[in-house]
Amino acid sequence: MAGAFLYPGLLFLASIATVSSHSQCLDNPPDLTARRHEAGTVVDDLAGFKAYVTGAAHSHRAIVLASDIFGFEAPLLRKIADKIGETGYHVVVPDFFNGQPVTDGTNLTEWIKLHSPVKAANHAKPIFAALKKERKSVIGVGGYCWGEIKRPIEILGAQYDVTARPKLVYQFVQALRQRNQICYYAKIFPGVKHGFACRYNDTNPFEVKTAEQALVLMLDWFGK
Ligand SMILES: *[C@@H]1O[C@H](CO)[C@@H](O)[C@H](O)[C@H]1NC(C)=O
Ligand SMILES: *[C@@H]1O[C@H](CO)[C@@H](O)[C@H](O)[C@H]1NC(C)=O
Repeated sequence: MAGAFLYPGLLFLASIATVSSHSQCLDNPPDLTARRHEAGTVVDDLAGFKAYVTGAAHSHRAIVLASDIFGFEAPLLRKIADKIGETGYHVVVPDFFNGQPVTDGTNLTEWIKLHSPVKAANHAKPIFAALKKERKSVIGVGGYCWGEIKRPIEILGAQYDVTARPKLVYQFVQALRQRNQICYYAKIFPGVKHGFACRYNDTNPFEVKTAEQALVLMLDWFGK
């Protein structure tokens, strides 16, 4: 599942509680050795965070992209950030995990306690302040598998997501419907599973195409 404007960490936490044996959050981890040409650069101190910064440096429209649990170094995530940047945004991907993303052997239960999306949302406030100081208005926040919600949200779910199942997405939509001041868009993509938008199999044409469609919807949403 993927969300444009903050991501339902709520769902993620809720689902960790219910998915005991296997979490799709851990499937197809990024290959950190598969370096590609990156359009952006890493800065050491964006309001106290290391961050990957890409796109139109002088644009007044900024997008903050939250990584999934594997962190801001994932090549496919940076590729997505570059693509968003190509459409005219200044894009920042902060290292919300302070150099401690999930790796082989991480105990997810313990990790999520140390890296709760709720805490991170508070820690992220100086990032927004710093961007505003640079006269950038933050248009949106996009995230994958990890985050929270207060603003208009687009939720892109996956048919075979056992972490944030379609049923959970529907429940979420019900909840959003009841708070009718929050505008939202939700879609379930057929034939794919959790992580489809940022951790897809990049040699599988169907998965690549689906992830591209998800990116187009995300860009449309930011455009709105
Ligand atoms: C992960 O941490 C939790 C809480 O500390 C513990 O109960 C659980 O046994 C650990 N799981 C593994 C696989 O070590
Ligand atoms: C990725 O997709 C290719 C082509 O469909 C397939 O051969 C390969 O096994 C897939 N890799 C994984 C990790 O699923």
